[in-house]
Amino acid sequence: NIFSQVIKPFIHSCNRFFSCEGGATGFKVAIAGASGGIGQPLSMLMKINPFVKELSLFDLLHTPGVAADLSHIETPCKVKAFMGSDQRCEALKDANVIIIPAGVPRKPGMTRDDLFNVNATIIKELAEAAAEVAPKALIAIITNPLNSVVPIACEVMKKANKFDPRRIFGVTTLDIVRTNTFVADAMKINPKEVNVPVIGGHAGNTIIPLFSRSKPHVSFSDEQIIAMTKRIQNAGTEVVQAKAGAGSATLSMAYAAARFANALMRGLSGEENVMECSYVATDCGEASYFSTPLVLGKDGVKENFGHGELNDFEKQEVETAIPVLIKNIKAGVDFVNKSK
Ligand code: NAI
Repeated sequence: NIFSQVIKPFIHSCNRFFSCEGGATGFKVAIAGASGGIGQPLSMLMKINPFVKELSLFDLLHTPGVAADLSHIETPCKVKAFMGSDQRCEALKDANVIIIPAGVPRKPGMTRDDLFNVNATIIKELAEAAAEVAPKALIAIITNPLNSVVPIACEVMKKANKFDPRRIFGVTTLDIVRTNTFVADAMKINPKEVNVPVIGGHAGNTIIPLFSRSKPHVSFSDEQIIAMTKRIQNAGTEVVQAKAGAGSATLSMAYAAARFANALMRGLSGEENVMECSYVATDCGEASYFSTPLVLGKDGVKENFGHGELNDFEKQEVETAIPVLIKNIKAGVDFVNKSK
């Protein structure tokens, strides 16, 4: 039947992919923005993740329906719905991991910065709630403009005396996922065999794939590297245009966020050498937030490797990105300082 032939092998293969070596006891994951384009498939991927014992779905709308639907999936994880601002704190309370895709997405012609006014307030309110009811949570922010809203969450935590730079992450995993896919396509190999770090931020030319550190080694020409870098920097816009007004990347983003959340939980469970790139507060360079390869552990970031050795092209890309990042970061910091 369809269950044994299709669904069970699917769940089994997901379990294998999101492997839980390390003997997890199970974590509480809260998703803010759970009813949205990213939120719904992400919630499903969390429901079938064996690390997750409790899934708390928060949104301003529709969470009872999403939760009822997901609760019929035959995994032990318990799903609870929270709807409306009044339930924000209850939803996040004591979560081990909070994933935030809450906020408006881009439409054709918009940049990620155009989303700032609406999404800044949403992130501020969610970070205030997290500071109050889940100060030890690892917080993975997806909402754009990522380069500015991650500093907003950190500034809110600082104001509340709850800031721990190891615990707040901007999810840039989709940039890595895209890079791996495009490189695999060009090399005609399985994307699972490819790993290319992507550093910097998550908007336009702040997205910097490091082909010099690609595994396996790539031997692209300079022209190919330039073209591939541009495609990765504009890949989000490719999807926004293809969706023609119906939003931005949701399914690939949900996959990427699930991969990142799984890495956070592998670290929480005590697994060694869990590595992902993410946009975090750092003192490694000129910009006070920067995405770099990190080792994840029981308290979030265990080690930040900085950007490491770069070739001349990559150094140039970093130089171009730094002033943009500094401006984006300042916008976030100023927003919190100006608000009550
Ligand atoms: P969407 O509009 O489909 O969903 C957003 C959800 O957030 C909606 O269900 C909405 O009701 C909810 N929401 C709005 N205000 C809220 C609040 N105060 N508290 C809780 N929930 C609230 O948007 P989509 O496509 O899911 O995108 C979400 C965000 O993710 C956007 O800002 C988008 O730009 C960003 N994004 C980030 C990517 C990345 O690589 N980091 C990639 C793709 C999108």
